[in-house]
Amino acid sequence: MKAIRVHTYGDVDVLLYEDAPMPEPGPGEARVKIGAAGLNFIDIYQRRGWYKVSLPFTPGQEAAGVIDAIGEGVTEFKPGDLVAYAMVLGAYAEYAIVPASRLVPIPPGVSIEQAAAVMLQGMTAHYLALTTYPLKSGDVALVHAGSGGVGQLLIQIAKRLGARVIATVGAADKVALAQAAGADDVILYREQDFEAEVKRLTDGAGVHVVYDSVGKDTFLKGLNVLRPRGYMVLYGQSSGMVDPVDPQVLSQKGSLFLTRPTLGHYTLTRAELLGRAGDLFRWMATGQLHVRVDRAFGLSEAADAHRYMEARQTRGKVLLIP
Ligand SMILES: NC(=O)c1ccc[n+]([C@@H]2O[C@H](COP(=O)([O-])OP(=O)(O)OC[C@H]3O[C@@H](n4cnc5c(N)ncnc54)[C@H](OP(=O)(O)O)[C@@H]3O)[C@@H](O)[C@H]2O)c1
Repeated sequence: MKAIRVHTYGDVDVLLYEDAPMPEPGPGEARVKIGAAGLNFIDIYQRRGWYKVSLPFTPGQEAAGVIDAIGEGVTEFKPGDLVAYAMVLGAYAEYAIVPASRLVPIPPGVSIEQAAAVMLQGMTAHYLALTTYPLKSGDVALVHAGSGGVGQLLIQIAKRLGARVIATVGAADKVALAQAAGADDVILYREQDFEAEVKRLTDGAGVHVVYDSVGKDTFLKGLNVLRPRGYMVLYGQSSGMVDPVDPQVLSQKGSLFLTRPTLGHYTLTRAELLGRAGDLFRWMATGQLHVRVDRAFGLSEAADAHRYMEARQTRGKVLLIP
């Protein structure tokens, strides 16, 4: 089969399109013939070596497709089933081996592309809004990178929970995307000082929660726009790693809460995984959640897809089609 392989950490050029042996499922595993793989920022962190993965490796943490073989002991799935998954490395390939415990059935009304597009970013938006800081009616949330993959989904889920959403975006044409997702206010944070704007928009009161995936460029100012006892939810670092924080800062700025969550800890059990993915698929199938597929690249074009994402071009989900 064909796969993208990374032999050394580095720039996009380390993503090589190669022949790889056809993988065989072991006990408890299924082989998925991938119809679409999703691109995520974590793929970039791993390619650069910011998150360590043992070399060589096939990148990609999410895909959807059809099961074409199962290993011993797999009873929940059979060849021919349509499935999706996230947080299992190796999706930039024609076939992937996935533990059956990580697979989610794709229901009627959801396409393979839509399923691949929603798993990782959608379950992230789901846990951020429903579990990490459970939003309720009347809360005010600041969502950075609001026109991005997670951003558009997080805004939609925050709105269905009744929150007011202030979003930031990095380009003028991204404003409409954040608004279409439901953002009440949108700040162009490369032109405007988002701290001053959030204070102005909230009459000085600040927000209950900041959902920050940008990291280095936004984190410290984000602490300044929180109400007393507000939540700083730092869930990514697309602009670079955040420097270490002195806990005293949280006291000085209003007895704040700081958390750095990750999807693995919010899909700990099979029930939690199926619950989050099930909500997303149901909302999609009934038109309550819109997943915007921005671009699809061929598997051999993985380097172009990474370049596109690193250059802040994404306006929704980017897929790789084997
Ligand atoms: N913790 C978790 O469980 C979890 C799970 C999934 C994703 N994440 C994180 O969520 C974030 C968004 O992921 P995504 O896959 O949905 O990507 P994305 O939002 O579609 O793309 C990242 C966005 O970050 C913004 N950005 C700001 N500064 C940037 C810079 N210097 N370089 C590149 N982008 C920059 C850009 O939007 P603007 O141009 O609008 O600023 C860019 O489009 C990432 O930080 C990712 O690591 C975390």
